[in-house]
Amino acid sequence: MNLISNKEKLNDTTVMLEIIAPEIAQKALPGQFLIVRSNREGERIPLTIADYDRETGKVKIIFQMIGQGTKILGELNKGDYIQDVAGPLGVATHLSEYKNAIIIGGGVGCAIAYPQAKFLHSQKSTVTIIAGFKNKNQVILENEMELKSDKLIITTDDGSYGEGGFVTTSLKQLLDKDNSFDVVIAIGPVMMMKAVSDLTKEYGVKTVVSLNPIMIDGTGMCGGCRVTVGGNVKFACVDGPDFDGHEVDFVELAKRNTAFSEQEVVARNHSCNLLKGS
Ligand code: FES
Repeated sequence: MNLISNKEKLNDTTVMLEIIAPEIAQKALPGQFLIVRSNREGERIPLTIADYDRETGKVKIIFQMIGQGTKILGELNKGDYIQDVAGPLGVATHLSEYKNAIIIGGGVGCAIAYPQAKFLHSQKSTVTIIAGFKNKNQVILENEMELKSDKLIITTDDGSYGEGGFVTTSLKQLLDKDNSFDVVIAIGPVMMMKAVSDLTKEYGVKTVVSLNPIMIDGTGMCGGCRVTVGGNVKFACVDGPDFDGHEVDFVELAKRNTAFSEQEVVARNHSCNLLKGS
């Protein structure tokens, strides 16, 4: 069991939980994830580590309460315990070779983009962040990203804050002006990562994406997180979650991610008659 040492609501649907997990904090690296279970009967939820502090032994997760499992997790408060936190899992992002990077976060994907920016900033690489949101109310981690980047561009789909439009508009402007970027790292909705990868392919810029397929065991045994990369089968939990964006079959990934949509709606609308009687 792991104690929740802090909780913050970042917007209407997005929550940050800070958890006491010294062994995980000791080993965690950017790009790695945890599998979290709120209670004994709880769903296993894969969540990328948003931040870690080796000295205090704390790790942070940031997630949207969109499914039944994340809703239950998001209802826990400071002082509550999480049943299990397993990790760090997955292969850490190889960041040390990059000197001039563009990091793109889409929505809650910024929670994953942030530790990458923090790491690159700490090794004195030049970091440009493009953070895209639907609207002003959805913006998260602005101050944190500002502190760990040389340039922060916020975009909103409806133009209510920052630059109006999608992250790809700002990305194209950067790539048109400057050809010295050695990598673009994109984390967010599948179709955003696809759009970014399609664009960077035209410019010949290396692109790394962090994939978010359905995961169950997180150890490479269930096959739930199967993705196709460069025509080969990979398992995001043990081979990733980072892959070459120019090689990923995003259309297949998007399709597989909706495989349990109907069951998710049923779970969300279910109210337990046993609990009603208690
Ligand atoms: Fe089961 Fe990756 S989550 S193989």
